[in-house]
Amino acid sequence: MHKRVLVVNGPNLNLLGTRRPEVYGTDTLADVERVATDAARDVGFDARCVQSNSEGALIDAIHAARHDCDGIVINAGAYTHTSIAIRDALEGVALPFAEVHISNVYAREPFRHHSHLSALAACVIAGAGIQGYDFAVRRLAALLAA
Ligand code: DQA
Repeated sequence: MHKRVLVVNGPNLNLLGTRRPEVYGTDTLADVERVATDAARDVGFDARCVQSNSEGALIDAIHAARHDCDGIVINAGAYTHTSIAIRDALEGVALPFAEVHISNVYAREPFRHHSHLSALAACVIAGAGIQGYDFAVRRLAALLAA
């Protein structure tokens, strides 16, 4: 049985491609999910991709992962900066996770500099564009193989 990674994208990431292309580029959510799925296949993992604009649905997806996933790649969008509930969900399922941001949040507004997730993350990747999802999947796979 292949190990499986859950790839979670949060609010507004369904608008990738048209939302602020000067910040996020022109790739779409489908491109993001393809990058993550291809990386997973390359390292012998399965990927399950979910996107939601709602905090509760993201929490439900994280909870469900505890039954059949080995790690999580998450771009929680703006919930990164606000959601203690998503932090607690990640802590609660106790799966290793990689935090991804397409943009370099540290070069942007101060309210994007704090993440409720980073202190629990196995790694944090910001500013690498959608390639960050490739790095994140590979890093998680390396950790899970170790
Ligand atoms: C983001 C950065 C967040 O600050 C923002 O709210 C997003 C996307 C990124 O991928 O760069 O929605 O997580």
